[in-house]
Amino acid sequence: MSIEAIIFDVDGVLVQTDRLHERSWRALAQREGLPFPDGLADRLRGVSRERSLELLLGDAHERCTPERRVALMDAKNQLFLEAANALTPDDTIPGVRPLLAALREMGLRLAAASASRNARLVLDRVGLSALLHAVIDGHDAPRAKPDPQCFLMAAEMLQTEPARCVVVEDALAGVDAAVNAGMAVVGVGPARQDPRSARWLADLLLPTLPGLAHELPDPWK
Ligand code: BG6
Ligand code: MG
Repeated sequence: MSIEAIIFDVDGVLVQTDRLHERSWRALAQREGLPFPDGLADRLRGVSRERSLELLLGDAHERCTPERRVALMDAKNQLFLEAANALTPDDTIPGVRPLLAALREMGLRLAAASASRNARLVLDRVGLSALLHAVIDGHDAPRAKPDPQCFLMAAEMLQTEPARCVVVEDALAGVDAAVNAGMAVVGVGPARQDPRSARWLADLLLPTLPGLAHELPDPWK
């Protein structure tokens, strides 16, 4: 069955905002006197704001009132927004812009599907929105990855079937979501080694794009 659409995760795949999410959680932890143990950053990758707070608080999450949880999440989001508002096209993952343009030239339909409620702002700031046929963010699809909701909505918007879609993801929660959606997935960065990552698809696609493969740096390699 031929591929008709490529659906990209946003943070850590199209834009270097994975670092901003991590930095904002670290700053909040420091401000609140909460520990930020080794390995936590990897566990936060790709998961919802609510789940991220749960992972950060650990056992203390149960003792935290709903009001305080909301205040902490709002504070993290403020920190993120300050950084996100300063994004420029230079914060796009290098090589992504020509890659998207070349995939469009090949007649593929392109979408971004993110758990983030800030995904549209991020894509606008870096100037990628016009290269995408559809964007699904955390408002459109409230059920966060590994739920397949955002990818299924993207396929519907692109008027194609899940089996004709390839997802590009950097987070394990996103790889799970793509598999749950019945889509092929190319893992990049931390998700690259996932046994479910169809690297052969990337190997098949990228060499067909002259001059591009060598331009793609981390986390795509
Ligand atoms: C994902 C990020 O795309 O969105 C996570 O990888 C983030 O780090 C999640 O927690 C939710 O984002 P936001 O901006 O709605 O808090
Ligand atoms: Mg991501």
